[in-house]
Amino acid sequence: MKTLVIGAGNMGLTYAEGMAKSAMLNRRNLMVFDKSADVIARLREMDHFDVYEKLEDCLPQADMVFIAVKPYHCDDLFEEMRSMVNEEQIYVSLMAGVTIAKIQAGLGVKKVVRSMPNLPAQVGKGVTSYTESKEVSRVELLMVRNLLDTTGESIHVKNENYIDASTGISGSGPAYVFYFMQSMLEAALKMGFSKNDSRVLVSQTFEGAVELFNRNDLSPDTWMERVASKGGTTRAALDSMDDNNVKELIKDAAYAAFDRAVELGEDK
Ligand SMILES: NC(=O)c1ccc[n+]([C@@H]2O[C@H](COP(=O)([O-])OP(=O)(O)OC[C@H]3O[C@@H](n4cnc5c(N)ncnc54)[C@H](OP(=O)(O)O)[C@@H]3O)[C@@H](O)[C@H]2O)c1
Repeated sequence: MKTLVIGAGNMGLTYAEGMAKSAMLNRRNLMVFDKSADVIARLREMDHFDVYEKLEDCLPQADMVFIAVKPYHCDDLFEEMRSMVNEEQIYVSLMAGVTIAKIQAGLGVKKVVRSMPNLPAQVGKGVTSYTESKEVSRVELLMVRNLLDTTGESIHVKNENYIDASTGISGSGPAYVFYFMQSMLEAALKMGFSKNDSRVLVSQTFEGAVELFNRNDLSPDTWMERVASKGGTTRAALDSMDDNNVKELIKDAAYAAFDRAVELGEDK
């Protein structure tokens, strides 16, 4: 199974690095293509995979092709690729908002998997949602899943609407967590903690809470009740959040990202 990654930026490189460690592939089967001379020079120095600067030297021999360029580069890329693709190849897109139909029409291929990764893939803790065109077989989908899982976990979704929805939860989600962290950091600094101590207080709090949450099936609501006692400090904080409608505002924010993902897909 020869696999090609097109676009070795944040996401493409993360996936290439993940896949390089997979038992399913070995270095000989992993190819990376990028059009930026700087990126190519850096990749050659790293020497983790075979790097190509011409599509004609790598695309025709690939069985599976991951596309990780920015969505606004896809039209030019598809134009360049079109004469070199074949119908047996499986195309896996990491591009936000680019629909399966657009990829099929742009490249003249049938087998397409559309996915939505997220940034923690960089530390092997990503979550990728994915869905496929009807021409992708179960076995092929399983192979794709194995490769997606090299950057964390993946969930199969039944159609592209759920890809846009997962953009609102997991794709954009790390930024919501950073938003919450930033607010708590600012509060800690205001209370007089040093920058370093504020960072430790906040990061350990997040990490510890997530670890507790992952330990069993208890809901966040149950955990909140375990921390908060009647008339206590946590209750004061949670009441303040409820009074300010924070939960509803966070849900609205997730829907804003979902709606924007749908809108971006319609623009393209
Ligand atoms: N970053 C995230 O958290 C995230 C999350 C979910 C989804 N995604 C999706 O992942 C995709 C990649 O995002 P990214 O942040 O990794 O982008 P990025 O860092 O800009 O990487 C894209 C790479 O592709 C290269 N490139 C552009 N056009 C090309 C072409 N025609 N042929 C070969 N290489 C080409 C770029 O070179 P130049 O720099 O010279 O243009 C760059 O090195 C996007 O479609 C995005 O929607 C990203």
